[in-house]
Amino acid sequence: MSAQQPDLEWWKTAVVYQIYPRSFQDTTGNGIGDLNGITERLPYLADTLGVDAIWISPFYPSPMADFGYDVSDYTDVNPLFGTLDDFDRLLSEAHRRDLKVIIDWVPNHTSDQHPWFITSRSSRANPKRDWYVWRDSKPDGELPNNWQSEFGGPAWTYDESTDQWYLHSFLAEQPDLNWRNPAVVAAMLDTVRFWLDRGVDGFRIDVAHYVMKDPALTDNPIAQDPGAMGTFKPMGPFNVWEHLHDRGHPDVHGIYRHLRAVLDEYDGDRFAIGEIHIFDWDEWALYYGDGDELHMPFNFSLIWAGWDAAAIRNRIGALEAAVPEHGWPNYVLGNHDEQRLATRYGPANAKAATTLLLTLRGQPTIYYGDELAMHQTDVPPDREQDPWGIRVPGLSRDGCRTPMQWAPDPGHGFTEASITPWLPFADDAMERNVETQLREAESPLSFVRRLLELRSARPSLNRGSIQLLNGLPDDVLGYDRSHSDERTTVLINYSSEPREVPIAAPCTVLASTHGHRADIETTTVIMAPHEAVVIEPAGD
Ligand code: GLC
Repeated sequence: MSAQQPDLEWWKTAVVYQIYPRSFQDTTGNGIGDLNGITERLPYLADTLGVDAIWISPFYPSPMADFGYDVSDYTDVNPLFGTLDDFDRLLSEAHRRDLKVIIDWVPNHTSDQHPWFITSRSSRANPKRDWYVWRDSKPDGELPNNWQSEFGGPAWTYDESTDQWYLHSFLAEQPDLNWRNPAVVAAMLDTVRFWLDRGVDGFRIDVAHYVMKDPALTDNPIAQDPGAMGTFKPMGPFNVWEHLHDRGHPDVHGIYRHLRAVLDEYDGDRFAIGEIHIFDWDEWALYYGDGDELHMPFNFSLIWAGWDAAAIRNRIGALEAAVPEHGWPNYVLGNHDEQRLATRYGPANAKAATTLLLTLRGQPTIYYGDELAMHQTDVPPDREQDPWGIRVPGLSRDGCRTPMQWAPDPGHGFTEASITPWLPFADDAMERNVETQLREAESPLSFVRRLLELRSARPSLNRGSIQLLNGLPDDVLGYDRSHSDERTTVLINYSSEPREVPIAAPCTVLASTHGHRADIETTTVIMAPHEAVVIEPAGD
């Protein structure tokens, strides 16, 4: 099943599956998923679904102000999720099944309960004071500058006992580390070594571009054209500002060269992908360095492209132009911060969206539950959990973090029937779940399984070049993937009307979102509304 082949680094051909650990599988009966739950579900991931790697969102000790993205110890497991022994078992069981394990690393900020911050906060004279970003008030008593927290309000919190402000690009409970202090760099790289020594295969780096800011803390200007951020999601008042100075300072590249050198000390192609929300392609591509920084910056460009053939085509073209020759592309259509794809694109388009994700050139990441076309759940206000949604109404991420739907029973295979999970199940979990979809040949899950098998079996799909096709109807996207003499063509109809699509030669149909399809004997494919097909020129 695995697409891994010895001649390329594993992460180039791997399909990654993101697990939000609170929501995957509860084995302790507290309504919250855990590491042993992930271990229990490895056969599903490796064999039933057939992915090659898992990325697990944070499971470190944390007060959970931001559900684990506020880390209070980088080198342990939160008892809520299990123990280090449980992690080691998960890792060895995953490796036994040829699954790679990527963990989340959160370098920009710690929890305010991390001993480093507690010490730093204790006095101005403490040697750890400079591990975080502390500043006096301006002479007029004002905040040090105008930077804003992504989660709303100023990025500074006043500490009364030492009469200074500390910087937090996110919640006040997430103080930013001062990466300009070499002791911080050394301590954080040690946390990376800790997990590399245990055998993890890679890291997803949380808000990787944030770690270096303008050292002069210059005010951000007001955005001239907030619409220019239209490539990204609406973020309320945060988008009033152009984020020129509070992230992405060029010194960030030195940090990632350092990190890469550490990864390269280890065997087995240890891997790093950075969460980088930068939509200037040239600036984005800098994170590849000369092949000496991150293996990849995450490419979020399709998430906010809309369901529009031309917009998606443009972004694929832009990405392909931006990735340096020594680099490798990647695509993602959902994660724990974004609206579920089945809701964003509409349920009728979910299978076609997955076809796009799994047939483009580069590493795809599937968000847990998207293989079932899980939709965004309306979480009632009294069950709301996400601090962002609580602070900025309308921006809650709870709806994409609801528990995985495994089975048509009251606990849905996620937890015990009598237990209330930490977030409610989606209202269609009784029908939309793994067990039910495995029985249905045309379910989203059965379709994804077939696509993954196809991708794994066809070098053109898992490593080939890509060429966007011209001369198709406006709302149809098409591309050829080629590797030596194998060719695969993908056509996606974004319209809710049928479309006639010209092709060069008759072809064999390898997959269709619309079930079995006879091979095409002519040079026209009549595509159903919302259909995606994967075809191979006959005789190839
Ligand atoms: C990233 C994470 C998000 C988190 C934020 C702060 O964007 O994906 O979930 O809230 O960083 O760590």
